[in-house]
Amino acid sequence: MFLTSDTGHTKTAADINEYLRRKGGGLANVNSTSEASVRRWREQQHDVAPPEDLSGVDDFTRDFEDEEPGDETEFSFTDEDRQKLRDSLDQTLAACNTNPQNVVGLRVAQWNAMIKNTDGEAEIHTLYGVKVLVKTKDITPEWPVIQRAPEATPPVRGTPPVGLIGGWKTSVILPDIQAGFFRDAKGNLQPTHDPRAVDVALQILTDVDPHHVLIGGDGVDFPELGKYRLTPVFVQTTQKTIDWVNTFAARLRNITSAPIDWLEGNHEKRMPNYLLDNAAAAFGLKRAGFEDEWPVLSLPFLANFDDWKISYLAGYPAAEYWFNDRIKAMHGDKVNSAGSTVHRYLNSERVSTISFHIHRVEMGSRTRHSRNGPRTIMAASPGCLCRIDGAVPSVKGGTNLEGVPVEHSEDWQQGMAVLHYKEGDEPFVYEPISIFDGWAVYGGQEYRVE
Ligand SMILES: [Fe+2]
Ligand SMILES: [Fe+2]
Repeated sequence: MFLTSDTGHTKTAADINEYLRRKGGGLANVNSTSEASVRRWREQQHDVAPPEDLSGVDDFTRDFEDEEPGDETEFSFTDEDRQKLRDSLDQTLAACNTNPQNVVGLRVAQWNAMIKNTDGEAEIHTLYGVKVLVKTKDITPEWPVIQRAPEATPPVRGTPPVGLIGGWKTSVILPDIQAGFFRDAKGNLQPTHDPRAVDVALQILTDVDPHHVLIGGDGVDFPELGKYRLTPVFVQTTQKTIDWVNTFAARLRNITSAPIDWLEGNHEKRMPNYLLDNAAAAFGLKRAGFEDEWPVLSLPFLANFDDWKISYLAGYPAAEYWFNDRIKAMHGDKVNSAGSTVHRYLNSERVSTISFHIHRVEMGSRTRHSRNGPRTIMAASPGCLCRIDGAVPSVKGGTNLEGVPVEHSEDWQQGMAVLHYKEGDEPFVYEPISIFDGWAVYGGQEYRVE
């Protein structure tokens, strides 16, 4: 305060000495903070105007004013003590390498120390130090502050349809959305999912009004949590992805009140795997007293799946959903880049299988001979709802020297599926729906997103 005031050097030195005299017990002979030391300190600095805002900073002048009469008698500085204190102040001012605008005061400290004298005997000495109080700079984060997710309105829907004639039910199946983001050359967030494909899928979902909805896994991409080399444009996008999933869940719930199952895929699995590899102590942690909840650092917890009444089927790759006794869905872990992946499932499975993971539209059948006659199973992959132009990090994709994905047509196809089935050991009908550039046809109707 003294040093940064407009007061002259001589008066400032006198003010400091007066302060030290009062602080030190009212003893006289305090003149060792010189006009020269004040001037030297000020000459090393610029812009000696006092700081505008002293809120939140200790101001020793207030301490001084708050002293009760008689407090001085508690102090007993010796002349030697005073000289040490002045020396400390001079050294502090000389060494202080900060803008005077940021200096808001001084703090005098006193402590006792055990020191051996020349005879090796312990003596207690009182030591002093002077501290310059500097206003803290405003700290702003290098990365954008994580924002609260947008409000999502709970649905106001009736009960799901009770079933078609003869007990037939319908499930709408939404494959690999790969929700996520990266920053383009201008810093704008770009999605790795395809909002147009997702919109078409939700339009069809609205019209089908199914009894059940299945998210086939890889609903999120989570590139930051993967093991692979990642460019900076994907950094700090996981929160945005979680917010998107929450909003997507709200959109689903505003369309249907049917049960929704979300199969865990290898990309959702990245979050628990990331914790196990990098912060194992945080794996599986739950809120105290909520042992039935999902672990805090998990997609179903972070995106409020319980609130949206979405069942999360953990356990990739073993997790599966059975529609009836003859057909099941699982995210899948097989990829046959040289040909049909679904034929691998036809070889390994004994029931019909809807799998995901490969982002391709495939379908095949196989009939085996049995004692009871022919037994036919089907295997199908509905495609994906993610971008197929190179935005999703992949083995075949690439990035430019800024780390932004370059355009590249993946050998992937967008689509979804509708399954009609009866519960028990009963037949089913699988309907694949292809989506092209925000356009699809289903049930004789055209669906389009401009
Ligand atoms: Fe996958
Ligand atoms: Fe995928």
